[in-house]
Formats: sequence, structure tokens, C-alpha cells
Amino acid sequence: MTKQKFQELKDKNLLAEEGGGKKRIEAQHQKGKLTARERVEFLLDKGTFQEIGKFVSHRSSDFGLNDQKFLGDGVVTGYGLVNGRLVYVFSQDFTVMGGSLGEAYAEKICKIMDLAMQNGAPVIGLNDSGGARIQEGVVSLAGYADIFYRNTMASGVVPQLSAIMGPCAGGAVYSPALTDFVTMVEGTSYMFVTGPNVVKTVTHEQVTSEELGGAEAHASKSGVTHFTCPSDPECIELIKKLLSYLPQNCEEQAPSLPYETGNEKRTALDTIIPDNALQPYDMKAVIANIADKDSFLEVHKDFAQNIIVGFARLGGKSIGVVANNPGHLAGVLDIDSSTKAGRFVRFCDSFNIPLVVLVDVPGFLPGTDQEWNGIISNGAKLLYAFCEATVPRITVITRKAYGGAYDVMNSKHIGADLNFAWPSAEIAVMGAKGAAEIIFKSEISAAKNPDDKWKEKEKEYIEKFANPYIAAERGYVDEVIMPSDTREKLMIGLEMLKNKVAKLPRKKHGNIPL
Ligand code: HXC
Repeated sequence: MTKQKFQELKDKNLLAEEGGGKKRIEAQHQKGKLTARERVEFLLDKGTFQEIGKFVSHRSSDFGLNDQKFLGDGVVTGYGLVNGRLVYVFSQDFTVMGGSLGEAYAEKICKIMDLAMQNGAPVIGLNDSGGARIQEGVVSLAGYADIFYRNTMASGVVPQLSAIMGPCAGGAVYSPALTDFVTMVEGTSYMFVTGPNVVKTVTHEQVTSEELGGAEAHASKSGVTHFTCPSDPECIELIKKLLSYLPQNCEEQAPSLPYETGNEKRTALDTIIPDNALQPYDMKAVIANIADKDSFLEVHKDFAQNIIVGFARLGGKSIGVVANNPGHLAGVLDIDSSTKAGRFVRFCDSFNIPLVVLVDVPGFLPGTDQEWNGIISNGAKLLYAFCEATVPRITVITRKAYGGAYDVMNSKHIGADLNFAWPSAEIAVMGAKGAAEIIFKSEISAAKNPDDKWKEKEKEYIEKFANPYIAAERGYVDEVIMPSDTREKLMIGLEMLKNKVAKLPRKKHGNIPL
């Protein structure tokens, strides 16, 4: 009798593990995709996965669902370890009714999200689903809403990471969109609110799923995804790497990793700024020379490239880097770069990751496109994010810090803790050419040779303002440093700031200009 009961359990386990069956698993593999269970196994340390709700199935009977019961109901949920650290995971199983989400399926996801919040560990969602289970009707919509609510409640409490590894369409996109980071698999995943058929009917545009919502579109055009990866295993590896920079929850610090100690001087930085102030240089090389060896993980690499954001380590500790990129649009701030950096700053601040900000910014991008699409309110997002951040914040001005963008880019005035400048820094209301044209307008036009006069006045302005010393006299810059000393200065500064306590005024919550 007992033997029979043991056999029953064994059979049920096998059935649950088979998902939608061998044929569908084969079809999944043929598309170049791993199955939901293979993904979980790949993500977690060997033998650590503890499944929750393996035998859950739906309670619906409409439209033939009575005959379509699958143990687990199309989503694998549970917890385990990634590099020895606890994470919660749900993995949607496309082999079961297209991974579609019904009532019981949603309850499984909610259960692990509740556990993650209660116990303070990240949630990882592996998405591969045809969306709301059509046969279940409104209860599947309710299920999505239950998840959205938890995504929002968990925001800033535990890190939430989403991988899109197949379809993710309709309202289902809003769960990943509410999480902290999204990564998409190239060629096999797509995300859109309405698919190509609806688009064709409504706007008469002809577009493929890939063009509309594939990895490349969301990495470079919309910015919906922060990362793209060529395959499922690489996508999961990236999630593991990303986790290594993050704390388990908002009460903890990110883990420290070993790093190469020794001479912190980086002489390459002393020659990196070109003599000609209009010439670009490689800001990523600056980051590489400041951070621990090979530690920089760029976020949003293909989106709004005029600003660079990403995680790195300094002396083994996680930092968030925000840097203007003079190699793209001269590093100007525009709508996309402001929202990109603003969101990154918010994430770092939520999870106790100090910010290092490298400034070389000529100002905000002019033009009707920018003004009419709201550079004012979008630029304000980055400003707000910095103002409200209470983590240790250090700024290094490498070259230009002009106009309002000087204020926005983690200036002393909006709460940065330490502000350094290189001798090449130019801190001014605007570039010398434009400045001379405005303030010496009548002198220039009255001159015998206006061009020569303009150049003379430009030179005068450069000599007076294009340097870091006036800001240093005021204390807006704490120290003018040799570029080669930057790494060491940042390490010492962050050590000094490690017990920083900063409190915001009592309020329900602020009103970030969304
Ligand atoms: C029920 C579904 C399903 C769904 C797929 N299936 N999507 N069952 N509800 N939403 C089933 C299919 O009937 C099929 O079952 C199996 O899953 C595999 O699907 P295929 O179509 O054969 O696979 P493929 O050709 O790869 O196409 C995948 C797909 C397509 C592009 C995702 O299935 C599709 O368009 N599905 C519907 C997408 C959709 O409109 N979803 C609702 C979105 S609205 P059999 O047994 O025949 O193999 C939404 C609202 C959320 O999600 C609201 C939140 C606020």
C-alpha cells in the first residue's frame, strides 16, 4: 500500500516535470529555446531548487479546459540559490497552453512574490507566454492585476529582474515593465502591447513582430529592455552577473568581491582629454581606468548613448556609474538620456549602491523635437532623481560642465557629497563661443573686423571661466585632482562616506515629474 502511494507521488512528479509533453518540448528546443525547467536549473546553483505549487492546476471548465489540466498549470515557481544567495523564481512554460496565464497560475506567481518580499530576496521572472489564458476570461485579467500590484509593492523593497525569452504581449508586458531590469533574448523574444495585426488594422503600418517589439527595437529605440543576449543560456548568465552587484533587499548592502590591490594610480587618464575641447574621447576608457579590472557592466548600452550608465566595483564594492559620453552627440542631455539616467539613479538609491558621476556635458539638446516632446519635464526627472538620492554620491568633472546641465549632473548644490574636477574642467554658464557672442554682441558688431573681435572675446571668456578654479574657490568643487589619482580619490571618498545617514523631509512620497 505504502509502495503504491510512493509510486503515485513519483508518477505525479514525472507528469508535472513533463509540462506540455515531449512533442512540445521538442518544438521548444527546435526554436532554440530552453524549457521552463531547464532555465530554472541553469539559473540556480546545482541541486538548490525548491519547487512550490508543483501540482497546482486550474479550476476552469469553459471551452474544453476540463480536458486540459496540467500539473503546475504552466508556470514553474519556487526558490533556490544563485552563487549561494537566495532568490525566488517563476518560469513560464510555453509548452503548457502557450504559457498562458490563468487564475491558479497567477496565484503561484503571487505566492513567491509575497515570500520574496517577506524574506527579503530578489524575484526573477522568466517570461515566455501567450498572455492572458483566453478561456479563463476575466479571472486571468484579475491574475495579471494581482501581479502588477505586487510588482509595484515590491519595487524598492527587493530587486526584481525580468527575462523575456519568448512572447510577452498585451497587458502582460506591464509586469516586466514594472520591474527593475529587463533583458530580452535576440530573435526569439518580443514584447508589444498590440501585435502586428492590430497595428496594421489601426495605423495601416506593415511591421513584423521582430521589427515592432524584438530585442533590438526595445534595446535601441524604446529603451524598454536594458540588455539583450543572443541565447537563453547567455541571458541567464547575465542575470546571475547582474545579481552579483545587487544587495538582497533595500535594508542590505551589495556584496563585496575581492579585487586586485596595489597601485591605484592610473597614468593613462592624464593624457585622455584631447587638447582641442571639441574633440571627443572614450568615456568608457575613463570608467575602465577608475573601476576594478573588468568590473563594468553597462546597462542600456544601445539606448541614449549620449549618457553611459552601469554597475562597476571600486575596491570590491558595487557602485553605480553615470557618465556623459562625449563620443555621442557630444554628451548632451536630451529626453532619452535624462530618463535613462534618472531611472538608474533611482534604482541605485533604492538599493544602497553609491553613485559615481563623471561629467562632460555641453548642456541640453536644443530644438523643437526636444521642447515639444518635453525636455523640460523629462530633464527634470534626472534632476529630481539626483536631488532625492541619499546614497553616497561623488562627482568628477572631467571637462565641460555647462549651464543647467552642470547643476543637474550631481552638483554640490543638489546634494553630492564630494565633487572633484580635473584640471581640464570647464565650469561655466555656456561655451565660450556662444557666451562671447551674447555678452559682447555690440562690441563685436561695431568692430572693424568682427570675426577677430569675436575670437578675442572668446579667448577672454575661456581664460576667465573655462577652468575649475572659480568653482573650487567657492567650494562647489572640493578638490581639483590629477586624473591619474581619480581611482584612489574615489576609493578613499567612498570609504569616508560608507556610514552616510541622510534623511528626506517627512512626507507620504514625493511627486517626481513622471
Ligand atoms: C490560451 C493559448 C494562448 C492564450 C497560446 N495558446 N496563447 N491558449 N490563451 N492566450 C495556446 C495555443 O492555442 C496553442 O494551443 C498553444 O498555446 C501554442 O500556441 P501556438 O499559437 O501554436 O504557438 P505559436 O505559433 O508559437 O504562437 C504563439 C503566440 C500565439 C504568438 C503567442 O499563440 C498567440 O497569438 N496567442 C494569443 C496571444 C494573445 O492574444 N493573448 C492575449 C493577449 S491580451 P494548441 O493546443 O493549439 O497547441 C493579454 C491581456 C493581459 O494578455 C491583460 C493584462 C492587463
